[in-house]
Amino acid sequence: MTRTLYLFCAAAPPIFHVAGVVEDAQARGWDVCLGLTPTAAGWLEDSLSGLETLTGHPVRSAYRMPGGGDVWPQADVIAFAPITANSLNAWALGLTPSWPVGVVVEGIGKRIPTVAMPCVNQALAAHPQVDRSVAMLREAGVTVLHGAGGWVPNPSGQGRPAEYPWHLVLDAADRAS
Ligand SMILES: Cc1cc2nc3c(=O)[nH]c(=O)nc-3n(C[C@H](O)[C@H](O)[C@H](O)COP(=O)(O)O)c2cc1C
Repeated sequence: MTRTLYLFCAAAPPIFHVAGVVEDAQARGWDVCLGLTPTAAGWLEDSLSGLETLTGHPVRSAYRMPGGGDVWPQADVIAFAPITANSLNAWALGLTPSWPVGVVVEGIGKRIPTVAMPCVNQALAAHPQVDRSVAMLREAGVTVLHGAGGWVPNPSGQGRPAEYPWHLVLDAADRAS
C-alpha cells in the first residue's frame, strides 16, 4: 500500500533542493504532498507548478476557506525539514502562524508520526528558546533531528545548503511509518 508523506518546508536555503528530495522520497515508495510556509512558497514561486506536477498534488501553503474539503490524502508521516527557528519555536509553543505549522501543532494531538530537522546557524541555535523547543517537541513524541545524528548548527555565514542532510529525514520517516 502507498504511504503518504507530508513534506513541509520553512524558509531556509536548503528548500532550493527540494525537488530532488521529493524524487528520493518517491523512490522510497512515498506519495509526497509538499507544504510550504508562505515565505518558503514565495522563495519557490517560480518552481511551484513544476513541484505540483512532480508530486501530483497541489502545493499547499495557506489555510483553506471554511467549508472546503481536503485536497490531500491522509498523512502516514509528516516530515518538517528544513524547519526554521521561527516555525520550530511557534510549533513548540502551540502557535499556528502558518498552515504547515498549524498542521503539526494539531498533528501532536492526532498522534501523526512526525519528524523534524531544523536548519539554524549557531547564533540562532544559541537562543535559549531553541533548545527548549527541541526538548518540548521531543517530549511530545516528535523525532527532532537536532545535534548529533541530525542537523549540527553551522557558524553564521557558513551555511552549505547543498549539504543539508535530507537523507536523515527520509531515513527517520521510513522508520516512523
Ligand atoms: C537568505 C536567508 C536565509 C535564511 N536562512 C535561515 C535559516 O537557515 N534558518 C532560519 O531559522 N531562518 C533563516 N532565515 C530567516 C527566515 O527565512 C525567517 O525567519 C522567516 O520569517 C521564516 O519564516 P517561516 O518559518 O514561516 O518559513 C533566512 C532568511 C534569509 C533571507
